[in-house]
Amino acid sequence: MNINPVSPSLGATITDIDLTNLDDGAFNQIRQAFWDHSVIFFRGQYLTSEQFITFAERWSTINVNRFFKPLEGFPKIAEVRKEPDQRSNIGSSWHTDHSYDQIPAMASVLYAQEVPPIGGDTMFSCMYAAYDALSDGLKETLSGLNTVHSSRHVFGNRRGETDDDNRLDNQDAAQQDALHPIVIRHPDTGRKALYVNGNFTTHIEGWTAEESRSLLGYLYEHAARPEFTYSFQWEAGSIAMWDNRVTWHRALNDYHGHRRLMHRITLDGVALSA
Ligand code: SIN
Repeated sequence: MNINPVSPSLGATITDIDLTNLDDGAFNQIRQAFWDHSVIFFRGQYLTSEQFITFAERWSTINVNRFFKPLEGFPKIAEVRKEPDQRSNIGSSWHTDHSYDQIPAMASVLYAQEVPPIGGDTMFSCMYAAYDALSDGLKETLSGLNTVHSSRHVFGNRRGETDDDNRLDNQDAAQQDALHPIVIRHPDTGRKALYVNGNFTTHIEGWTAEESRSLLGYLYEHAARPEFTYSFQWEAGSIAMWDNRVTWHRALNDYHGHRRLMHRITLDGVALSA
């Protein structure tokens, strides 16, 4: 297999590999590439839904997303869909999946089924690089702070009023909040990363939302700096797998009039610590 980094901060494309036929040696190389590059990309993979689940379960148990509609017959696979007549898409602003869970997801694996002729990229940003680029003074200020993350304002009942496309499910399950260090240490690599995101982080523990706004706003602007990001252009059969602890992602919504259909599996992680 060949592993080629796609940007200085994050991402690597892995070629000359068939994900339906991986021996332990190949799997270990892929896992190392995932830790080294935080997002890994494959192209030209044609997996059945059963094979997609088998690949994902090699990494961890599957965390069934309670808000996304599942693929019919496969509750472990969520659909991320935008139809030609729909205007909004899912995941258009920077976020990391499941930070609203006290034990957040390790990774998400997104498999392109149908993509627009142009557009519909997914952008990624590297939270290791974002943390490393902060001044020592701000790193010191952040150490010891925790933030509260929630799904209520995104997937809760308020969302039901605006989800006129009916692509989300189970709004009543958006009850939980979670507390995480603002800077985490990656459980496998030991590297420090910024762990906040504009979608799900509501405030700094012990601060009001208003007091939190300027510091969090600064971190959001900083972490989206172009030099930390990479934009992946999809083809049908492409797969992206990202580490939710140390990356953000967002789905560009620049392809009105075309269908984009992805299958997503989210994988269980461990509790995060500073
Ligand atoms: C997501 O936020 O998981 C969806 C990303 C995408 O559709 O590109």
